[in-house]
Amino acid sequence: KKVVLAYSGGLDTSIILKWLQDEYHCEVVTFTADIGQGEELEPARAKAQKFGVKEIHILDLREEFVRDFVFPIFRANSLYEGEYLLGTSIARPLIAKYLVEIANQSNADAISHGATGKGNDQVRFELGAYALKPEVKVIAPWREWDLNSREKLLAYAEQHDIPIERKKGESPYSMDANLLHISYEGKGLENPWQAPEEEMWRWSVSPESAPDKATTLELTYEKGDIVAIDDKPMSPATVLAYLNKVGGENGVGRADLVENRYVGMKSRGCYETPGGTIMIKAHRAIESITLDREVAHLKDDLMPRYASLVYNGYWWSPERQMLQTMIDASQATVNGKVRVKLYKGNVIVTGRMSATNSLFDTSIATFEDDGGAYNQKDAEGFIKLNALRMRIAARLQQAQKK
Ligand code: ARG
Ligand code: SIN
Repeated sequence: KKVVLAYSGGLDTSIILKWLQDEYHCEVVTFTADIGQGEELEPARAKAQKFGVKEIHILDLREEFVRDFVFPIFRANSLYEGEYLLGTSIARPLIAKYLVEIANQSNADAISHGATGKGNDQVRFELGAYALKPEVKVIAPWREWDLNSREKLLAYAEQHDIPIERKKGESPYSMDANLLHISYEGKGLENPWQAPEEEMWRWSVSPESAPDKATTLELTYEKGDIVAIDDKPMSPATVLAYLNKVGGENGVGRADLVENRYVGMKSRGCYETPGGTIMIKAHRAIESITLDREVAHLKDDLMPRYASLVYNGYWWSPERQMLQTMIDASQATVNGKVRVKLYKGNVIVTGRMSATNSLFDTSIATFEDDGGAYNQKDAEGFIKLNALRMRIAARLQQAQKK
């Protein structure tokens, strides 16, 4: 019996590793991915070796993460409940994919993860795993063991000689980071009225302490994705890393919200998504000149459904894939450039253009003489026919009043 564990190298997943070996007497294969969380991964190798793990997989998935997961959700302008940019939600299906791939490679029949039994992440990992490997066994230690407090966990670690390194300046929050965002939950945030402390934020300066001078960027779009910044071509992961940096320097991308978890509870979270906050604004700007009105509105109608599918863990479902096909097709014309100004937490669009796909027709929209391109007389019938049913109803109402 073999199990593939999503292993960060941190205390919790190290305890899980040891627990799997002791309770399930199975061989543990570890999988650690770089998705831009900004932590060194090599220590995870040394730790896994210490537990006698023979198969250790450490993969750099940053480009795949942004190209195949982050960019697709931004083509849809995805926001969950109007505010959440899905930073953690979108990383889970990628992890699920690799848990399954590694399980297949190394003939393992089970996967395991360190998500608690209370949240969304367990659903996302497991729906993904079942969709990609229908007979897979899932071991979720947090739902099985009785190590349900920090105290019990630490005692277990001590008992089993698992190193508990308290790093200097370590955050007390439950955090999750990748190239799209960093999240904070728990501790003082569990009171939704309590403001987050300034020291909590790690990726951005506060809008108050951001520079007094704005930063201007030109973003080049091809088929709805950013392919260059200030005319410099960049890979997807490089684009996002760069936007995180300049966004963070300008106080862009902080969010403090209460969201509805799929399992039914409300949860308060703080998020820093500097690059994503720039991307969602700029993408709407390029779509504003390159998409047909009805196509844009239909995308907007479907967006909340799509965002919920991603939030709830249905990335690998047929309905998400169907919506994606439609969204991706809409992006064929989304080519051009957007100019944005970053200033003290704001993302301000100051221009948009498309040499090949602009539907913005100055000769028709102009307030000056259009030379007969648009016949004002056509508007009269257009308005009258649209008013017809309201006039009929109003007449009836008037007649009944008498
Ligand atoms: N509430 C967010 C979500 O469900 C963030 C979850 C953070 N996960 C974590 N393991 N700390 O997407
Ligand atoms: C967890 O429960 O592991 C983190 C929070 C979440 O998944 O929603």
